[in-house]
Amino acid sequence: MLAARTPVSLSLHHRIVAGGHRGRCVGGSQRRRGGAPCRQFTQALQSLWRHSPPIPPPAPPAAGAATSGEAEPSRQPPVLENAAFEEYYKVQQIVREEEWDAFMSVLRKPLPATFRINACLAWHLNFSRKELRKNQALESFHEFLKHESEVGNITRQEAVSMVPPLFLNVQPDHHILDMCAAPGSKTFQLLEMIHQSKELGLLPGALVIANDLNMRRCDLLIHNTKRMCTANLIVTNHGAENFPYCSLAKDCSGSYKDPCKLQKLEFDRILCDVPCSGDGTIRKGHDMWRKWNSGMGNQLHLLQVNIAMRGIALLKVGGRMVYSTCSLNPVENEAVIAELLRRSGNSVELLDVSSELPELVRRPGLSTWKVCVSISRYKIENLGFRVTMKFHTIGRM
Ligand SMILES: C[S@@+](CC[C@H](N)C(=O)[O-])C[C@H]1O[C@@H](n2cnc3c(N)ncnc32)[C@H](O)[C@@H]1O
Repeated sequence: MLAARTPVSLSLHHRIVAGGHRGRCVGGSQRRRGGAPCRQFTQALQSLWRHSPPIPPPAPPAAGAATSGEAEPSRQPPVLENAAFEEYYKVQQIVREEEWDAFMSVLRKPLPATFRINACLAWHLNFSRKELRKNQALESFHEFLKHESEVGNITRQEAVSMVPPLFLNVQPDHHILDMCAAPGSKTFQLLEMIHQSKELGLLPGALVIANDLNMRRCDLLIHNTKRMCTANLIVTNHGAENFPYCSLAKDCSGSYKDPCKLQKLEFDRILCDVPCSGDGTIRKGHDMWRKWNSGMGNQLHLLQVNIAMRGIALLKVGGRMVYSTCSLNPVENEAVIAELLRRSGNSVELLDVSSELPELVRRPGLSTWKVCVSISRYKIENLGFRVTMKFHTIGRM
């Protein structure tokens, strides 16, 4: 979490893909804000439970294999091992020695399915997403969740993915930039936050700009956010490291003789959820066990720094930026923050957020890490880096 003290500057041009404009919300979304989705969801859920057969408990897992809970006789269980992964992260000391075995065993368990009902209420099921998809007894419940998600009463989102927006402390009049936004689950959360404190029918003054480099993923972002039926969102398609300065029109009379005044748009809040190796999602896809190597994080470090530096340049003095990845790797996390602080001097400060979301289990960030530059997959070069400031790592899973 970074806060801007003094402005930092850079420049470029932009391309807008799609967007809404401020005014009345039109369109056929069935989404209702505030407490209504929660109430409707709970009623529908109670009705579903009344009419469904009891759900059998998940089957016990086979030793050493993925714990999916379903028998798949024709397929070999995926191998959930990667010696280089273990060696690398043991050396990095991302968890205490006595926690290592428990940590690895959690990595081998599938993630439970989670979803959000509104900006501050989330549910966690005792079934994995795969069980939800494949278990016959859960079929009607799965259909129900899909339907509720389509009409906008719930949003299916991993629990950890819900955390970064919560630290932004978003207010209904903020200008917010989501730098790498697709497929848009955090953008949706930000939109819920700006709308939640307003009465029905009233629009907040906030603006969310959701950006992504990938055009196809921008389409997905638009698809995933349109059920919000908001007039406060603009979607842009740009490299975030080159995101342009934008202007806001002010004091517009509507007359062509009296043009609007332009005011430089600076953001109160920036979410910098950068492209990353994604090894923190190892519980979601078995493929990561096979393909992981230490070079994945190294390759992305510079892009991550460049995107976050651009974020700092676009941040208002007194504004707040949250930097997040779904990677466990300090090269993509602490090392990026260290570089931002080194380059920005006194322009930004690292915020201590230990008093925010006090129930969230967290660990202090690393202040030393090793950079693996060896060609051999198993040899970790002993290049230690030490920084003097204290990092605030919110979570590593
Ligand atoms: C971790 S995902 C973002 C997830 C998203 N924040 C969410 O919660 O749904 C990273 C995104 O960055 C995008 N991306 C990759 N390189 C980028 C760049 N240079 N500028 C902007 N976006 C980029 C990818 O297309 C991808 O959608």
